Amino acid sequence: MRIVMVIISCIKGEINVERTMRIQIIGTGIVGEATACLAKSFGHEVYGYDINPRQSPYYTNISSTGKSYDLTFVCVNETLVDGVVSELVGKGMSNIVIRSTTRPGTIKALSEKCKVSLCHNPEFLREKTYLVDALTPPFVLIGTTDIPYKSLCGFYRPLQDRCKIIYTDVTTSEMAKLTLNNYLATLITFWNQINEVCKTVGVDTESVARVISNDSRVSSYGFTPCGEGFGGKCLPKDLVQLIDYGRSVGCNMSVMESIGIFNTRVRGLRPV
Ligand SMILES: NC(=O)c1ccc[n+]([C@@H]2O[C@H](COP(=O)([O-])OP(=O)(O)OC[C@H]3O[C@@H](n4cnc5c(N)ncnc54)[C@H](O)[C@@H]3O)[C@@H](O)[C@H]2O)c1
Repeated sequence: MRIVMVIISCIKGEINVERTMRIQIIGTGIVGEATACLAKSFGHEVYGYDINPRQSPYYTNISSTGKSYDLTFVCVNETLVDGVVSELVGKGMSNIVIRSTTRPGTIKALSEKCKVSLCHNPEFLREKTYLVDALTPPFVLIGTTDIPYKSLCGFYRPLQDRCKIIYTDVTTSEMAKLTLNNYLATLITFWNQINEVCKTVGVDTESVARVISNDSRVSSYGFTPCGEGFGGKCLPKDLVQLIDYGRSVGCNMSVMESIGIFNTRVRGLRPV
């Protein structure tokens, strides 16, 4: 109920977003840079920090800025989130937003351990087009352990006429991000499997795809390129994460396991 009240107040425009915010970004890799780019496009001041200073235009040595921040976005690999967030909380920082693809349950446990409310705001970009995708998200997802920070609602307010802003509890948000990546991996695998059969019997896979796309229930994702499997930094890693998470809660993950085995074969990789 409290969450709903905050959402309504966002919609009514009671949150002041006109002022410039100070945005801290921890980890200026792909997701960090994309987040910095979005914050800049809204006119905010951006302070980026990375243990491995790179040529990111948003890198600043924040340890020397001595500033407080309206929001801190954590954009590091998920295995580092616990350490980074614990350190930030130890320094007295609040309004921490985790953008990493964390295993469901991670942020709730971290919030309880650190005795602080946290938000999860997963990123849905594609690696090849990450900056454009960051500015035009398909939707914005905000998972919260308590109520969403006013500053985070305000941060996304400029997008509210262009895309849906969805509020959930934090574990739903973690599960949604993991599910989306595994849904995409499943579609790619499905088309690779169909492609194998089509090639064997001399049927053109794309013709089959074109025919069935006349049914509105069919998504075009994964139609092409056929035969290559899925790769990149996220889909293979998130498949392993989902299998491991599902097993840990006692589920039979044989469907997703088969996808991993099939993908390893079509990509000519050694099994992991
Ligand atoms: N790459 C993508 O397309 C994508 C898309 C959506 C979500 N994600 C998720 O977002 C997270 C980050 O992914 P990425 O692709 O941006 O990773 P990345 O490796 O490009 O960037 C992470 C950065 O964090 C830095 N870092 C590590 N420890 C740090 C610390 N203690 N303090 C400051 N900086 C530190 C690293 O040096 C690195 O530059 C992952 O969980 C990933 O699954 C990635």
